[in-house]
Amino acid sequence: MPKAIRIHEHGDAAVLRWEPVELSPPGPGEVRLRQTAVGLNFIDVYIRSGLYPAGELPAILGMEAAGIVEALGEGVTHLTVGDRVAYPMSPGAYAQARNIAADKLLQLPETVSERQAAAIMLKGLTAHYLLFRSYPVQPGDSILVYAAAGGVGLLLVQWAKHLGARVIGCVGSDEKAELARANGCDEIILYRRESIPERVRALTAGEGVAAAYDSVGRATFMDSLDSLRPFGVMVSYGNASGPVEPFNPGILATKGSLYFTRPTLATHIATRALLEEGAGRLFEAVGDGKLHIQINQTYPLAEAARAHADLEARKTTGSSVLLP
Ligand SMILES: NC(=O)c1ccc[n+]([C@@H]2O[C@H](COP(=O)([O-])OP(=O)(O)OC[C@H]3O[C@@H](n4cnc5c(N)ncnc54)[C@H](OP(=O)(O)O)[C@@H]3O)[C@@H](O)[C@H]2O)c1
Repeated sequence: MPKAIRIHEHGDAAVLRWEPVELSPPGPGEVRLRQTAVGLNFIDVYIRSGLYPAGELPAILGMEAAGIVEALGEGVTHLTVGDRVAYPMSPGAYAQARNIAADKLLQLPETVSERQAAAIMLKGLTAHYLLFRSYPVQPGDSILVYAAAGGVGLLLVQWAKHLGARVIGCVGSDEKAELARANGCDEIILYRRESIPERVRALTAGEGVAAAYDSVGRATFMDSLDSLRPFGVMVSYGNASGPVEPFNPGILATKGSLYFTRPTLATHIATRALLEEGAGRLFEAVGDGKLHIQINQTYPLAEAARAHADLEARKTTGSSVLLP
């Protein structure tokens, strides 16, 4: 039997259990995958802790992985055994093998390894929709990017630079500042010791940024609003510090007729056409050298608890990959 990381209850990283799981043959429309690399994402922490619903317990954690097609279910015609594939967002990824709907899978180009795919599918598709849809970045825009040395952050910064933005990155340490700069941040705010709105106003001649891509949530919500230019866009896409508290929409008026959006990747890849569009652009950006993939931590999948603890303690940079 393959092994997987499951939770039987919500809690801290100690609730992760490495245990054998049943795996039936793939059903109609499904394939069986031997997984070779699994992505670590902050959403895995939210599901583990109970902030986001996990469905019925016990549940296999994880959203994103890459691997090799090992068996085809009835009716699957566009894939063959031996294909290298990956997926960004299908619950049950922390496993050595699994069944998965074939239409959730993308075939990997030769330029992208399975480890790289596990590092960028969820995070890179997120960077894509943030920059092309939530607020389409224009050349010359100043934008604010939180956790700029993180998994999504490093991809977002690199891509935004290629789109011609001036990127102001918020980071939690001097080492992260160096990494964020090396990846294209024009300006850095060390937001654990500097005031974000004050620094943004100083860096933008008082105007503010066109968009704030805020993945930190509760701790930075008001700072983001206070850093925007009139008609600026607040893209609240994560809760690393906890979820944003309910707020009176009137503050969007008083702070400059601001726009607020709270997107999720799930909507942005809900159809096969959307998934293929985003993945096409992502693989192209990697192939063109616009995005340099940084896997700065790897862990045995069996030690996912250690990976979760590091992610939550802000110890990681770039992407982390779990190896089954
Ligand atoms: N809505 C969506 O579609 C979507 C999709 C993907 C990811 N996300 C969100 O994007 C964010 C980044 O995800 P990721 O997987 O790439 O993680 P990550 O950015 O690699 O790691 C999280 C980072 O957040 C920062 N942070 C600030 N306050 C924190 C706190 N109280 N606890 C822990 N970290 C804190 C830390 O960077 P510093 O030390 O530099 O502050 C930390 O390294 C997460 O909030 C995630 O939920 C959202």
